[in-house]
Amino acid sequence: MCGIVGIVGASPVAEQIVESLRRLEYRGYDSAGVATLENGRLTRVRAEGKLKNLAAKLQEHPLKGAVGIGHTRWATHGRPTENNAHPHATDRVAVVHNGIIENFRELREELTARGHVFKTETDTEVVAHLVTDEMQKGHSARDAVAAALPRLRGAFALAFIFNGEPDLLIGARQGAPLAVGWGEGEMYLGSDALALAPFTNTITYLDDGDWVVLTPKGAQFFDASGLPARRAKVQTQASAFLVDKGNHRHFMAKEIHEQPEVVGRTLAHYLDMSSGAVRLPFELPFDPKTLTRITISACGTAYYAGLIAKYWFERYARLPVEIDVASEFRYRDAPMVDGGLMIVVSQSGETADTLAALRYAKEQGQHILSVVNVQTSTIARESDVVAATLAGPEIGVASTKAFTCQLAVLACLAVGFGSARGALDATREAELVADLISMPGLMAEAFKREPQIEALARDLAKAKDVLYLGRGTNYPLALEGALKLKEISYIHAEGYAAGELKHGPIALIDEAMPVIVLAPFDAVFEKTVSNMQEVAARGGKIVLIGDARAKHESAVPFFATIAMPDMAPDFAAIPYAVPVQMLAYHTAVVMGKDVDQPRNLAKSVTVE
Ligand code: M6R
Repeated sequence: MCGIVGIVGASPVAEQIVESLRRLEYRGYDSAGVATLENGRLTRVRAEGKLKNLAAKLQEHPLKGAVGIGHTRWATHGRPTENNAHPHATDRVAVVHNGIIENFRELREELTARGHVFKTETDTEVVAHLVTDEMQKGHSARDAVAAALPRLRGAFALAFIFNGEPDLLIGARQGAPLAVGWGEGEMYLGSDALALAPFTNTITYLDDGDWVVLTPKGAQFFDASGLPARRAKVQTQASAFLVDKGNHRHFMAKEIHEQPEVVGRTLAHYLDMSSGAVRLPFELPFDPKTLTRITISACGTAYYAGLIAKYWFERYARLPVEIDVASEFRYRDAPMVDGGLMIVVSQSGETADTLAALRYAKEQGQHILSVVNVQTSTIARESDVVAATLAGPEIGVASTKAFTCQLAVLACLAVGFGSARGALDATREAELVADLISMPGLMAEAFKREPQIEALARDLAKAKDVLYLGRGTNYPLALEGALKLKEISYIHAEGYAAGELKHGPIALIDEAMPVIVLAPFDAVFEKTVSNMQEVAARGGKIVLIGDARAKHESAVPFFATIAMPDMAPDFAAIPYAVPVQMLAYHTAVVMGKDVDQPRNLAKSVTVE
């Protein structure tokens, strides 16, 4: 996950920037760089590898400017070379970037046709050229950024400095975090409060879609529509704590909002964004071509991630998948084919039942691949291959960002296996990879529904029971939605495959029963419409989480609809997880529950 730092002040800033970048090292990176203005001209120093390489270069070529930006890069588009390291610059502007610019290819073609010359393999460079293009039309630096931002698709944070503008630093946030730090005659930008802690504890967090203009005297905030915005200052304890809640009330809220960033980071670990192919970051101790079946085992939310992945492995890799909750699987005496593959999924990597399932499968001669978030955990240590989720520490007991990162990893594995087994050709693989790359941006888009979800939560909080329905990959997501609501609000909830409704649960439906239907307009949508009609006929209150077409084509009386952006159906469960999580979160908040530490639950279940 890249790190961003920016400072605008009165004295040289390069050393402070490197000091601040050191505090972002925990995010992981493979190159780094700093740009400042010297005598009004943009100058940069960049280095491959760790910050000590950058510091050594800066000793040889000290940068003197009083405005600057710095960056630690986690390579996504293009190798971790000095040339691809940030800041990227033209003769007008230098920029650092965290996240993914999804439409960089089309922008690059457009700008190349207008005479811009690109020198790197990165997506970021289009941002520098796009802003330059606007400046060449006669716009000021600030107006050029305002004109360029709406043209960028994806989840990102950006910081800019400009040739001939020693008192100007601009930041922008869409789906990746960015904070402003308030100093005396000096202002700061940072990926998080931790980066800013050496300078100040007075912070303003940008809202999604915001951008900010900083001078040594202060900050002016603008919202996504370009209108001036007021954003509150908060005091942080960031210097003392490595993990803080940012400007969120709960860790769970923070973790929900981190998802575009951490899912993007996780995808970047498994995909070659430039060529549009899966590139697993490890050697497999087996050949996917020789597999005849996969077994998946896990608990709770991790199990639901595995259940969604079952659809993907079957569809893309043409492999039959057996899946069971670990507490059952471990005692079933399940026969396993020698040389088969067992995938275990776990955030903590310490869940006792999952570990026991792993050990059983090992005894049965299976290769063990674990999808884990804590890479030093027992499950990771006892696996043949560890497919890391790069979600960062998950503190809230209710799993959110670990879940979507598990989905991201499992999707990459399914597509990678499909391509290795010849079940997917290169064109289809590239299409699926492009769909995956769009996930962080779609998740960020889903946050726009939060005020509506908050209002809906007030109704849901009055319910005694809630039903979640879905088909295909939205069926396991319905199970996850019900689990999320149960565990933090204590409202009884059940998830069902929508087609199962008339085999029993329909008996529960009456005017008091909210039924949350997860239904994008996909191949099985029409079937789900029939199920919604059955609910409506019995007075159930239907809440549709679906796209515009789903709403338009269904002709069902909805109690509420949560409109999701249009997307290819394949991996829709990843962005659809966001409203499902937000609904559970806000319902629990309305009810005054202890969201981060719900009663009776532990984050890591190390007993049976
Ligand atoms: O650490 P793990 O992923 O192995 O944990 C598995 C479950 O205990 C966990 O997902 C649990 O269901 C969460 N509380 C769900 O939010």
